[in-house]
Amino acid sequence: MLTVTHIADLRARLQAWRQQGLRIGFVPTMGNLHNGHLSLIDEARRRADRIVSSVFVNPLQFGPTEDFDRYPRTPVEDARLLESTACDLLFLPTVEEMYPEGRDQATRVFVRGISDTLCGAVRPGHFEGVATVVAKLFGIVQPDVAVFGEKDFQQFTILKRMTQDLSLPIEIVGAPTVRAPDGLAMSSRNRYLGEEERAIAPRLHAALVVARSRVEAGDADRVAIEDEGLAALRDAGMRPDYFAVRDARTLEVPLADAKDLVILAAARLGKARLIDNLRATRA
Ligand code: PAF
Repeated sequence: MLTVTHIADLRARLQAWRQQGLRIGFVPTMGNLHNGHLSLIDEARRRADRIVSSVFVNPLQFGPTEDFDRYPRTPVEDARLLESTACDLLFLPTVEEMYPEGRDQATRVFVRGISDTLCGAVRPGHFEGVATVVAKLFGIVQPDVAVFGEKDFQQFTILKRMTQDLSLPIEIVGAPTVRAPDGLAMSSRNRYLGEEERAIAPRLHAALVVARSRVEAGDADRVAIEDEGLAALRDAGMRPDYFAVRDARTLEVPLADAKDLVILAAARLGKARLIDNLRATRA
């Protein structure tokens, strides 16, 4: 595996691959890699000949009071882990390489509507930061296919929409959430959990499972399902940001006849903010 920090070096390598007619797969990350990320690389490998992964903690997607400074940065371990996978090239840029104009880069990408709800409502500017950096990374790597984790379902939906709206010739693929045996979705932020909190954390997934069975059993009382979910999170000692049953395509409140739904939840637990979701098919 090759590691590059400069855009020009990355482009030179990619050009050589493209000239050989190879299909490029891309897995953007913020590092501190775990099995969830590695499953994204596997998924990309099934769909492309060469895999590029980026590790970049993007300042634009953190709010002023969020964890940008303390976000776990483990580049040496990340490179070692990627080396053991099918990744061919690691792009490890500095903030200066990505944002030579600093945080004031004039061009921003904002996907309207879908970015304002759920996590977007509690993290203003977050999805603008995500869409901007991913659009930039797409411009740098120009992959044929890019893989994102479905754990961040709203992010995945926004990036699919951005790619479609901007007519980018990139296939966007979602990879299923990887979970610990007790149901907790893997996340770099799980390391903020103390021992007691770690024991409580799977109750977020458990609450989603209960909600999914209600939805799939034909229970149409969306508000009651959401209230029960919120109560379960509070009972577990979490401070929920939302527990919501939504249309899986638009993330809007589902119409009565919508079948393809997603139940999404976010809650604070100690220093961590947990998010998770489950798809549900209404009968
Ligand atoms: O999901 C993430 O790790 C980040 O939001 C992403 C997509 C790499 C953009 O910084």
